[in-house]
Amino acid sequence: PAAVIVAIDGPSGTGKSSTSKAVAAQLGLSYLDTGAQYRAITWWMVNNGIDIADPAAIAAAAEKPDIVSGTDPSGPTITVDGTDVAAPIRTQEVTSKVSAVSAVPEVRSRITELQRSIARGAEVGIVVEGRDIGTTVLPDADLKIFLTASPEARAARRSGELKGADVNATREALIKRDAADSGRKTSPLAKAGDAVEVDTTELTLQQVIECVVTLVEEKR
Ligand code: C5P
Repeated sequence: PAAVIVAIDGPSGTGKSSTSKAVAAQLGLSYLDTGAQYRAITWWMVNNGIDIADPAAIAAAAEKPDIVSGTDPSGPTITVDGTDVAAPIRTQEVTSKVSAVSAVPEVRSRITELQRSIARGAEVGIVVEGRDIGTTVLPDADLKIFLTASPEARAARRSGELKGADVNATREALIKRDAADSGRKTSPLAKAGDAVEVDTTELTLQQVIECVVTLVEEKR
């Protein structure tokens, strides 16, 4: 079958990463976690003493780090200037700063170009997950999915992942990050007009995966 391009967007805690990875693995497609790229550039800014409250400083440094994503869904990788940053990009510090960095237009245009070139290069097809994939990065994707879930379900899933994290604090942090991501001027988190919305609140991960696999197969 021809290479298929699947865009999966939605706020955090909707099961985007787990779903995207499993769907890509099951269908033999590549997988790109675009949130990891924004986290990686944020990690670099923090490590290089760039003031996160200074968008001009962030913009001036946006082209500096070399960010490389490995797209095998069974073991996706991310490096910055050759350093494996898979673990440090998940810290609370990076998580709390990533929305400010990713709101800077120079950061978005730079990372968007990277994403488009990875998608173009994926001969087997690719599942790309993020916030603006269907609207901005890959508007011609063969299939666009927008995952949603209630704030309670999203906070419960995230605190489960963070093992023992306080559900209320997680819920507040998550709502704050989604508001920042949805409210920014440049390519905010949004559902594309032609995206299929899947509310995952009452679904198991397995059910969401099956639903998306079925939708992809209809497109192939
Ligand atoms: O998906 P994840 O929670 O790892 O994304 C981290 C952050 O990266 C988001 O909160 C958002 O600020 C940013 N992001 C983005 N556009 C994307 C993917 C992620 O702005 N396509």
